[in-house]
Amino acid sequence: EMNLKYVSSGKAKDIYENSSETLLFEFTDRVTAFDGKKKSDYNEKGEITCKIAEYWFNIMENNNIPTHYIECPTSTSMIVKRLDIIPVEVIWRNYVAGSFLRRYEAGEIKLPEGVGTEEGSPIHGGMIEFTTKFEAVDRPINTDEIISNGWLSEKEITYITDLTQRINDIMSQELAASGIILADFKVEYGRKPDGEIILADEVGTPDGCRFWKKDEFDEGAIISLDKDVFRKSIGDLTVAYRELFNKLQKNNK
Ligand code: C5P
Repeated sequence: EMNLKYVSSGKAKDIYENSSETLLFEFTDRVTAFDGKKKSDYNEKGEITCKIAEYWFNIMENNNIPTHYIECPTSTSMIVKRLDIIPVEVIWRNYVAGSFLRRYEAGEIKLPEGVGTEEGSPIHGGMIEFTTKFEAVDRPINTDEIISNGWLSEKEITYITDLTQRINDIMSQELAASGIILADFKVEYGRKPDGEIILADEVGTPDGCRFWKKDEFDEGAIISLDKDVFRKSIGDLTVAYRELFNKLQKNNK
C-alpha cells in the first residue's frame, strides 16, 4: 500500500512522486512487446528486474557514469532523481537483431559496410541509433531532426554518444566475464535542474537489452536471456531473467 502520488506508468514500471526532487519507480510483473500489442505478467519479474537495474546502476556510478539512481528502499522499488527527460531513446547495437534486421528486410535501411544480413551478424565497433520516445510507435530519427526539434544540441549528441559507448564498453566487459554477449541495448537520458545530462530510466535490464549466451553463440545458436524469450514465446521470462542475474552475481563473488 502506497501513499505516494501516482505520476504515470511505463510498459513495466509505475512511477510515483517521492519528493519534490525524487521519484519512486515500482517495478511490476508486467511485460509488453511489439508496441504494446503483446502483453503478459510473470511472477517475480518485477523483483528480479529491479535487482538487475540496481546491480548495473552501482557499476555505472563506480565507473563515473552519472545516473539518476539513488537507492532501492524495497525489493521492487527504486528512488531516482527527478529529471527533464530527453524525448529520445538511444540504442546501441553490437550485433544485428530485432527492429534493425526487420527494417533491413523491409528494405527501409541499408546495413553498414561489411555487416552481414542475419540475426547475430557482428557490427564491428558498434553503432548508435536514436528513436522517438513519446510517439505511439518508436520511430528512428536522425540527428538533424533531433537538433531541429530542439531536443539536443550537436555538442550534447556527441556527449550522449560518448556516454552510451562507455556504457556499452562497461557492460560488455562485465558480461563477457559471465559468458554473455551484449547484442544491443536502449538507454534514456535526462537533464538535472542545473542542466547536467545524466543516465535516466533503467540500464542493463533484460527488458531493454539483448543478452546472448556466448558458448552457444560460438556454436551458431542464439540463446536469449532477455525479453526476446517473451517476444518469441520461447520460455519463461522470469526463469531467463534469473539465470542472467545468477550468472552476473557468480562472477562478482
Ligand atoms: O527492437 P530493437 O531492435 O530496435 O531494440 C534494440 C534494443 O533496444 C533491444 O535490446 C530492445 O530490448 C531495446 N528497446 C527498448 N525499448 C524500446 C525499444 C527497444 O528497451 N522501446
